[in-house]
Amino acid sequence: MEKIIVTGALGQIGSELVTKLRKVYGADHVVATDIRKTDCEVVQSGPFELLDVTDGKAMYDITRKYDADTFIHLAALLSATAEAKPLLAWNLNMGGLVNALEVARELRCKFFTPSSIGAFGPSTPKDGTPQDTIQRPTTMYGVNKVSGELLCDYYNHKFGVDTRGLRFPGLISYVTPPGGGTTDYAVEIFYEALKNKSYTSYIAEGTYMDMMYMPDALQAIIDLMEADECKLKHRNAFNVTAMSFAPEEIAAEIKKHIPNFAMKYEVDPVRQAIAESWPNSIDATAAKEEWGFKARYNLETMTKDMLDQLTMKIVKSAG
Ligand code: SER
Repeated sequence: MEKIIVTGALGQIGSELVTKLRKVYGADHVVATDIRKTDCEVVQSGPFELLDVTDGKAMYDITRKYDADTFIHLAALLSATAEAKPLLAWNLNMGGLVNALEVARELRCKFFTPSSIGAFGPSTPKDGTPQDTIQRPTTMYGVNKVSGELLCDYYNHKFGVDTRGLRFPGLISYVTPPGGGTTDYAVEIFYEALKNKSYTSYIAEGTYMDMMYMPDALQAIIDLMEADECKLKHRNAFNVTAMSFAPEEIAAEIKKHIPNFAMKYEVDPVRQAIAESWPNSIDATAAKEEWGFKARYNLETMTKDMLDQLTMKIVKSAG
């Protein structure tokens, strides 16, 4: 990876991935793009271009202008928003992806796009979900993700594009909050715990979902993209996870640091139904064996770091 273009660069993953890639590969070697422009680090610390991913010509022109050899396509709607606006989700998630794959094919770029635990559905084995298994999701987001995995594999075997992907679980981070996802509760809980010492969860007690801390997710993207192509038996997309917990378990972990933290529940039927259609815990053996995936943070170490980092952020913004 020498010249990397990133779409959705101001989103939850992009805002941290761009900063990390610029540190590793050089600021001028990472072109950030997004549909909006704000006064943030990603915009200021290197090349930035406004880009609507449904505009294939603009995407091609920008990629060509910077002579990129790697395309990282992150722009997408998350699960709850996609369920509220299914047609928009199809047009943006699939339209953006096929445009990005076409650019990668024409300009011979290496390609990454994230898939998700949302690519699984109610008929998928729920515990220790294997790499290769039933994928019949019942959400628009899941339909987009499975279609996306297949499309990326198609561009690989039909056109030789070096496509690679990860099935991310819920990503927990403190720089940019996620928006419109089902796993967002596991991020919101930290902000509310520090602000109000309480959180009302829209996900019910006993609902297990996979999660990962953002530093592990960023490293996984780089490790997969740098992996020797000969070792990859799979491509789109690898199961990766660091932990699986239910709302009461993350609440108990936060309580160890904030003893008077209180958790309440007001279940949102839409997001609860999405969560129940997803696995409890997925199996990342293929990622470990084929390119050495490793997660460094578990529930305990992630919780401590999230609280430390958010506390510093709050102190900084107050001062
Ligand atoms: N975090 C995503 C969501 O909840 C799952 O990939 O939509």
